[in-house]
Amino acid sequence: MSYYKVLGFEKEPFSTSPDPNFLYLTKEHEAALTNVLIELRLRRGLSVVLGDVGTGKTSLSRKLIGCLKERGDFIIHMVLDPSFETEHLFLTSLVRNFEINLDQYSDPRFRGERPTTLDLKEALEKFLYQKCIIEQKTVVLIVDEAQKLSETAMEILRVILNFETNENKLLQLVLLGQLELHSKIMNIANFFDRISFKYTLNPIGFTETRDMINFRVKKAGYTAASKLFLDESIHLIHKVSRGYPRKITLLCHRALTKLVMQNKWSVDESLIREIIHEDMQTGWMPQVSLNVAR
Ligand SMILES: Nc1ncnc2c1ncn2[C@@H]1O[C@H](COP(=O)(O)OP(=O)(O)OP(=O)(O)O)[C@@H](O)[C@H]1O
Ligand SMILES: [Mg+2]
Repeated sequence: MSYYKVLGFEKEPFSTSPDPNFLYLTKEHEAALTNVLIELRLRRGLSVVLGDVGTGKTSLSRKLIGCLKERGDFIIHMVLDPSFETEHLFLTSLVRNFEINLDQYSDPRFRGERPTTLDLKEALEKFLYQKCIIEQKTVVLIVDEAQKLSETAMEILRVILNFETNENKLLQLVLLGQLELHSKIMNIANFFDRISFKYTLNPIGFTETRDMINFRVKKAGYTAASKLFLDESIHLIHKVSRGYPRKITLLCHRALTKLVMQNKWSVDESLIREIIHEDMQTGWMPQVSLNVAR
């Protein structure tokens, strides 16, 4: 039997996969989501969400896709890893993933031949015009791990953002990336100016750490009236994780497996201390003071 079933859960509460159902909307996650949705509805072009490692960018992008899919008028494609080596490869992937029929959108003189980079760009522009202006759909490209975009790929995105009518952009682009994306964007003239919404996800505070843990516990089907994570344990989890959601999730997962092994029913401060001491002894965590200011 899985450890979480022993504790009365229906699902694993602290899996590290970016499941949008387990995303707790902290103030920052909510602000980022709501504003990106507004930008997309207004077709304003480019939104950028930055965040350090494990702050919830991928989970947020999945949530965003869920919100967009509830409406029928969005065509969405998400790039999970944008490290394309050439312009041609990047454009080919866009054309394939938006299911653009090259026979319909490319120059009839060249049909059947291997499309050139220019053919791909033209087909993409015609496709965007057809969907956005004629069919009144909103075409969205979401790029996760956008810090991996090469200069060439950024240049293509810049060109695509130039496809526009008097009123709005034909492609809506959402970039989510680690903090180094910021300097990348700043180094490309004309890219920064095109951002219509920018936001940075920061690590979370104690209260949101507690709310996030309780949210996930409940979401996974825990119904017992007693608290599973005592506040004293959450203070320590917050201190050691420094408010980084992935670190919080990992620590909580380990705390629950330990709880089962020790035949206990609630996570207290001493249990978290044990985990941290084990990690410090084995060198997986730097030596830190475990005094918690409350
Ligand atoms: N707001 C949140 N509520 C609940 N869990 C969260 C939240 N933010 C992040 N997590 C959890 O933290 C883990 C890491 O999240 P995610 O993969 O989305 O981060 P990321 O910013 O994309 O990380 P990376 O920079 O490594 O790509 C996941 O297990 C996710 O469920
Ligand atoms: Mg991610």
